[in-house]
Amino acid sequence: PTPDPTSGQTGGFAALLRTATAQEHQEAEQSGFMGNLLGGRLGVEAYADLAAQLWFVYAELEAAGEALAGHPLVGRFVDPALFRREALERDLAHLRGTSSWRQQPPLPATEAYTARLRQLADEWPVGYIAHHYTRYLGDLSGGQIIRGIAEKTWGFDRKGDGVRFYVFEEIGNPAAFKRGYREALDRVGAELGEIEQWRVAEECRRAFRLNTALFQDLGDRYPLSA
Ligand code: HEM
Repeated sequence: PTPDPTSGQTGGFAALLRTATAQEHQEAEQSGFMGNLLGGRLGVEAYADLAAQLWFVYAELEAAGEALAGHPLVGRFVDPALFRREALERDLAHLRGTSSWRQQPPLPATEAYTARLRQLADEWPVGYIAHHYTRYLGDLSGGQIIRGIAEKTWGFDRKGDGVRFYVFEEIGNPAAFKRGYREALDRVGAELGEIEQWRVAEECRRAFRLNTALFQDLGDRYPLSA
């Protein structure tokens, strides 16, 4: 792998994943739905819809994680301190009323996303690492920006109901956690070899595109110009 000399990192697996997905990250960040949501142009209903779709994603991500907890490489990343499903359920109960949020069906993009997660758990567990990285490191990074905007835009209590998804109560120091996570990625990368590292990087791009497709589906429901 050729690391991006501007990334300020050494050329390990973590740096590969970051540089390989830079373009896809930008596209996800700049999707119309995200732009409108974070620009304060959408109501709390759109925010709740996103949470409802993410519930399906995290239910699958974390069920697969539990199934893979004993895997020699993948299991190193599976950490209940990261689990978001219950936090989403608390947010949704607040946003939607106690149980009515369960009536929301998954969008087609959400179904495609969860189907891919299931397939990887069955057929290529190492590829699951790409999805774990894409969601949880994102939540620990840009997720914190989203939380601040959501609190301000829709008046949620700071780190309270409505934004618990973005609050990692059991992770005291997110920056330190991310450093440790990248070190774990680098160690796994060394065991995988170069070809498999590139396959995982490709799966990371796919993971980002699955997220962008979800934003697209949600955006179709809330058509505003970006
Ligand atoms: C990292 C912002 C959307 C996945 C970051 C960082 C920022 C950021 C500022 C850098 C943190 C750092 O250097 O430590 C945002 C904003 C978003 C957004 C504002 C939405 C408007 C997303 C989405 C995903 C994602 C949709 C994927 C589902 C990631 C990942 C990283 C990251 C995996 C870690 C990169 C690495 O250090 O390896 N994001 N992001 N982000 N973001 Fe996002």
